[in-house]
Amino acid sequence: MVTFGVHILLRYNRSTSRKIIGLPGPVKLPLIGNMHQLIWNKHTSVVFRWIHQLLKELDTDILCLRFGSVNVIVIACPEIALEVAREKDAVFVSRPTTFASETLSFGYMGSTLTPDVQQWKKMRRVIRTEILSPALEKQLHHLREEEIDHMVKCIYNTCNSNNIVNVRHVARHFCGNMIRKLMFSKRYFTDQPADHLSADGPGPNEVEHVGALFTMLSHVYSFSISDYFPSLVGLNFDGQEKVVKREIVFAIIDNPPNEVEWALAEMINKPEVMKKAIDELDKVVGKDRLVQESDISQLNYLKSCVREAFRVHPFRPFTPPRVAIADTTIAGYTVTKGSHVLISKIGLGRNTKVWTEPNEFRPERHMDNGNVVLSEPDLRFVSFGTGRRGCPGISLGTSITMILFARLLQGFTWTKPANIDKISLEEAKSSLALAKPLTLHASPRLAASLYKGK
Ligand code: HEM
Repeated sequence: MVTFGVHILLRYNRSTSRKIIGLPGPVKLPLIGNMHQLIWNKHTSVVFRWIHQLLKELDTDILCLRFGSVNVIVIACPEIALEVAREKDAVFVSRPTTFASETLSFGYMGSTLTPDVQQWKKMRRVIRTEILSPALEKQLHHLREEEIDHMVKCIYNTCNSNNIVNVRHVARHFCGNMIRKLMFSKRYFTDQPADHLSADGPGPNEVEHVGALFTMLSHVYSFSISDYFPSLVGLNFDGQEKVVKREIVFAIIDNPPNEVEWALAEMINKPEVMKKAIDELDKVVGKDRLVQESDISQLNYLKSCVREAFRVHPFRPFTPPRVAIADTTIAGYTVTKGSHVLISKIGLGRNTKVWTEPNEFRPERHMDNGNVVLSEPDLRFVSFGTGRRGCPGISLGTSITMILFARLLQGFTWTKPANIDKISLEEAKSSLALAKPLTLHASPRLAASLYKGK
């Protein structure tokens, strides 16, 4: 067994990327590099927390780990992140092959996870022209509106019963319903009567589907040991649009609900921020109609709240890894072909050299320059990323996140449940999500007729 293991390691070490000299990082053992630490940390804590602890201990914005024969470079400041994601994006254009990403993309037939540059270019074109074209986005506007009306109605119905709303549950199911409708023209998988669902929210099959999506997401680029010993997998180019649609379900289901839940949690603890947001809504939209996507451009304070949530509380600790397709340099260090690069979202968003009191939720930071947008091409934090592997869904992603946030704030007064002093802002142990789903008391703030939908 041991001989077999050593044989695999030796074979693999010869076949992949060469060692990188000079970059900060923990001591590497022969053959396995830091694999023993990866295995240990997978059992004792969460790998991303270990990596961020290393960045802190070594007092560095860039470090190199070596798992088997794969160099993994972690970046935690905007200047170096921009060098990789924008300046040298033609070199860092590939993605790693991992078991989870291969399964999720049906053997890399999609765009987001594919390591094959030609396949990625082809699928990116499909996304831009057939799925994310501005004309189609506009055409599908009524479907998004139907779903957001449905969500508001569900919360209103809850207010009439016990007033306690699980914000995470509501936000995730809004996104799940909406994306299923946009991509596959159906909201539900069940044949339960529609009126049951519209009164009470998602049925058991929807709950199971959204749960399964989150489980699958948690396995993508999750530092599985086997990811650093990939086998050769043949690429299949059939059924592209279906796969791209499936990937897009994943793109939407995670970020908007997470950011909205965090923003709301922070704002409950900061009534002055909540008041400013409500004042803006009342000024721009008023209370006689529901806020619409067309209002978003004027809701600069609300967008600043969401930007601040992206900055302090990203859903994932890293952007999807990039792989160097040729030898190059990062921050002056020589980096070999095949190296993986991870950009740390918390390294950027909570960087003390960029942000004062970085852990403090302060939307005013983003109010300097007139029209506020959710994207951050200078990578002072990561929302949609930048460069040729940056997110192509900025416009749709912004609309979905902002309409969710704006409708929740305009439609309801949110308060802490009676027995709670302060909302706990503790993070989950194994992710950056709130440790406990945000559960709040909701009461309607508009005329009853506005909650009925069309
Ligand atoms: C608030 C919503 C969204 C956020 C925060 C978000 C964020 C991101 C981020 C951070 C990346 C990785 C960028 C990088 O590697 O540097 C990404 C990639 C991607 N996103 Fe989004 N996204 C959102 C919504 C969407 C939507 C609505 C779509 C499509 C309908 C979409 C499609 C994609 C695709 C296809 C990629 C892979 C790009 C590539 O590898 O070439 N995203 N997104």
